[in-house]
Amino acid sequence: MAGLPSVLLATCTALLALAAPSLAGDPDMLQDLCVADYKSLEGPLRLNGFPCKRLENMTANDFFSDMLSLPGNTGNPVGSAVTAANVEKVPGLNTLGVSMSRVDYAPWGMNPPHTHPRATEILFVLEGSLGVGFITTTGKLFARTVCKGGVFVIPRGLVHFQKNNGGVPAVAISAFNSQLPGTQSLTEAMLAAFPMEPTDVLVRALQIDGGAPVHVV
Ligand code: GLV
Ligand code: MN
Repeated sequence: MAGLPSVLLATCTALLALAAPSLAGDPDMLQDLCVADYKSLEGPLRLNGFPCKRLENMTANDFFSDMLSLPGNTGNPVGSAVTAANVEKVPGLNTLGVSMSRVDYAPWGMNPPHTHPRATEILFVLEGSLGVGFITTTGKLFARTVCKGGVFVIPRGLVHFQKNNGGVPAVAISAFNSQLPGTQSLTEAMLAAFPMEPTDVLVRALQIDGGAPVHVV
């Protein structure tokens, strides 16, 4: 008969095995296709992801997009534009655990520090030369120049950025292991949340104004 320690060990192993999927990225698929049926979102049902269209209503166009063929508009203060081909634009990506984006950089433009909570990113430099980097949770910066044809990997959830090192436009293509990686900009999270973060929290966190508490009215 199994002793108590081995029963405990077996129970712990089973519990860990059950917990493992929740530590992974997008879950595995349970069928060949599950093209997102956006229309059903108007109904009362809510899912983690999107419900599937019926097979007879799926077409090749559900798996197609030419949205990455055109440059994004980089005429903005940071000088970059991200065009994301994720499940919200390409419904055939639903449940497949992958997506892509195109990033255009104006001369000397940058893609400001941001994170993707649900995906690792691999960035391929299509045109130009970029300074790229990510920062670990312990504060270590991994950064280098990546020229045309090079790739750079950004581990899931870590803060990262790119800047165009040149006086000519640059372009990168990124692939993600999530149908919807999510993007959180550090600057926007700090300074453009809605409703706004309490001023005393920002002042103290950013160590401005001496860090003295400021009351929000
Ligand atoms: C680049 O970092 C991107 O998220 O597309
Ligand atoms: Mn990114």
